[in-house]
Amino acid sequence: MTKTAPGPRGHPLLGSLPDARRDALSLFLNAANEYGDVVRFRFGPRIAHLARSPAAVRQAMQDKHEQYGKQTRGFDKVRLVLGDGLLTSEGAFWRRQRRIAQPAFHHKRIAAFGETMARCATDLADEWANYAGNGKPIDVLNEMMHLTLRIVSITLLSEDTSARADEVGRAITELLHSANERMTRVFDPPMQLPTRENRRFKENLRTLDSVVLSVIAERRKKPRETGDLLSLFMDIRDEETGERMDDQQLRDEVMTVYIAGHETTANALTWTLMLLSKHPAEARAVREELAAVLGGRAPTFADVPKLVRTRAAIDESMRLYPPAWIIGRSIDKEDEIEGYRMPKGTLLFLSPYVSHRNPKLFDNPEGFDPSRFLDGRVEKLPRFAYFPFGGGPRICIGNAFATTELVLVLATLCQRFRLDLVPGHDCTPEPSITLRPRSGMMMLVRNA
Ligand code: HEM
Repeated sequence: MTKTAPGPRGHPLLGSLPDARRDALSLFLNAANEYGDVVRFRFGPRIAHLARSPAAVRQAMQDKHEQYGKQTRGFDKVRLVLGDGLLTSEGAFWRRQRRIAQPAFHHKRIAAFGETMARCATDLADEWANYAGNGKPIDVLNEMMHLTLRIVSITLLSEDTSARADEVGRAITELLHSANERMTRVFDPPMQLPTRENRRFKENLRTLDSVVLSVIAERRKKPRETGDLLSLFMDIRDEETGERMDDQQLRDEVMTVYIAGHETTANALTWTLMLLSKHPAEARAVREELAAVLGGRAPTFADVPKLVRTRAAIDESMRLYPPAWIIGRSIDKEDEIEGYRMPKGTLLFLSPYVSHRNPKLFDNPEGFDPSRFLDGRVEKLPRFAYFPFGGGPRICIGNAFATTELVLVLATLCQRFRLDLVPGHDCTPEPSITLRPRSGMMMLVRNA
């Protein structure tokens, strides 16, 4: 007979909602450590389970993925921004879109993108060189957001939207913050009500739409043989009707990669630079590797497999601060996980943040120890013990793109500069839709 999973009782009416709003990371991490691999929560009237073990994650993401859907409150709020693109759609429609998009992420294409990634990182390093050592801190989070936005717009959309990076960055930050607020509130005023927050939400959405729709309009006016993601989506015809995708569908797909393709990567870079500043011996090991492999020249795609220490620092940073820290699923068919009943209509949370700090699998789980990715400790763990990019059919389509970008950008910057945290800077993570540093990341840039 299946059992009901253990979990915190929380507030008589609201359950764990107030705790989740106060500090969701601690709530989930502490509950898993106290109650075990499957924890039952109540959020107001809703029941949700958090599952931590590799077997549980594998069941939901891979073995029985068709029973675990995206009809969650979280995805509903994300849909307000992204519409029905690759990240948020489901079923036959999603499968078709994924098939169309896949060639844009082919290994050969990523090799070509590598050049753009390294060039954009070098442009930024040249800018930093003008003020390295001047003692004025910069917000590394903001710098990384601009850089990764530029990379994703040039590689996947063949447009450089840098001129509007500040405006776009602000709109995205506010939209994600508001979407996150909306998913954790007891009552969320419907979008149609003219509240101040709703008006601001729509204004920000208009800012993003104007950028994305102008990229599409420009391409319609002057079709180009770019072979980029946008052209793949524009060229495809429906097998039965022969129709092409309309502007709304194109908008949703472009918006999805525009946001999913840069926000996460920028956060991963920022957390890695913060951790290297706090662990100077690791930073030194990375610099020594860069000197040995590159000997002072700029990195290229061919260098990526050789930069193993640089890569290990990134992997370890995404273990501790996985940008996609929580992944929600709707239980579309009653099931059982680790012997516990998962009733239909309830929610399931998989959290790379919680699973990656599982003391049963990772020794010194809170420590920054990149060598665990080099000496076989992580390799020996079951698949789905470490899953910063998710897994199964819905695994991040930008996985290889992101990894290449992370290594090339980090190599370019660490080869030329040392980045030190400003003393006293608050490095607390904010568990919004992605895991961001709550107060940005103020750092001083010095020549290496
Ligand atoms: C460090 C960087 C990144 C991280 C940690 C990350 C993480 C993830 C995760 C965990 C998922 C699965 C979500 C789920 O199962 O519900 C996902 C999906 C997705 N990601 Fe990423 N991502 C990153 C970078 C990128 C990049 C660079 C792109 C595009 C250029 C991208 C585009 C997407 C898309 C389109 C999906 C939806 C895929 C589908 O369902 O078919 N991501 N990402």
